[in-house]
Amino acid sequence: MATVAPSPTHDALMDAVYRNQKYIYDATRKYYLFGRDGLIRNLEATPGMSVLEIGCGTGRNLDCAAQSWPGAQLHGLDISDEMLSVARKRMGNDCVLSRGDATGFDAEALFGRATFDRVFISYALSMIPQWEQAMDQAARVLAPGGSLHVVDFGDLGGLPRPVRSLMHGWLEKFHVTPRENMGSVAASIAQEHGLTLRTLRGRFGYYRRISLRK
Ligand SMILES: C[S@@+](CC[C@H](N)C(=O)[O-])C[C@H]1O[C@@H](n2cnc3c(N)ncnc32)[C@H](O)[C@@H]1O
Repeated sequence: MATVAPSPTHDALMDAVYRNQKYIYDATRKYYLFGRDGLIRNLEATPGMSVLEIGCGTGRNLDCAAQSWPGAQLHGLDISDEMLSVARKRMGNDCVLSRGDATGFDAEALFGRATFDRVFISYALSMIPQWEQAMDQAARVLAPGGSLHVVDFGDLGGLPRPVRSLMHGWLEKFHVTPRENMGSVAASIAQEHGLTLRTLRGRFGYYRRISLRK
């Protein structure tokens, strides 16, 4: 009887995706993960504020945040040990890094605090199967007066159809699925948690930025 290979768990899949990619990740992604620097500029994380990046990868964004917002207390969460190994080398003691699943984590156990003044998610929701749950979880760890910032692929609607299909095919190879209904999901999360929603559509719908303020 033919046996079917079990599909890897999500953490094993992410480790497999990034085992070799982690070495070229930062050098290559700067050419197509747009909108990340704009998100960091908008964090307004003054000294002493706590900041959490969910799906922090190699720590590239946390490093930029450290430079833009000196004195902020930085935290990073990722499911992949492969990516966290790079982030740990890069950030040293400047950041608290923990392995965990964005769809459900105990912030108190991982970071010694239940809430954060700023939470951000950059190009991770498009890789998380239960991404709506991850966005909801992010809203749950917001401190009073805090804000959640998201950047990810948009609907790509301004690109010619053949380019759009090529792009979708290429992203699929990396287990990336643009979340075309991210705006409407963010709107229901905003309503549920009493947050104010702002969205920004990048050029050609290439990326979308969302902020939710408490
Ligand atoms: C495309 S990378 C983005 C890394 C970084 N945020 C950036 O902007 O360069 C996606 C990251 O999300 C992480 N990730 C995927 N699923 C996750 C989950 N369920 N929980 C936490 N992290 C996850 C991956 O391990 C990977 O490091």
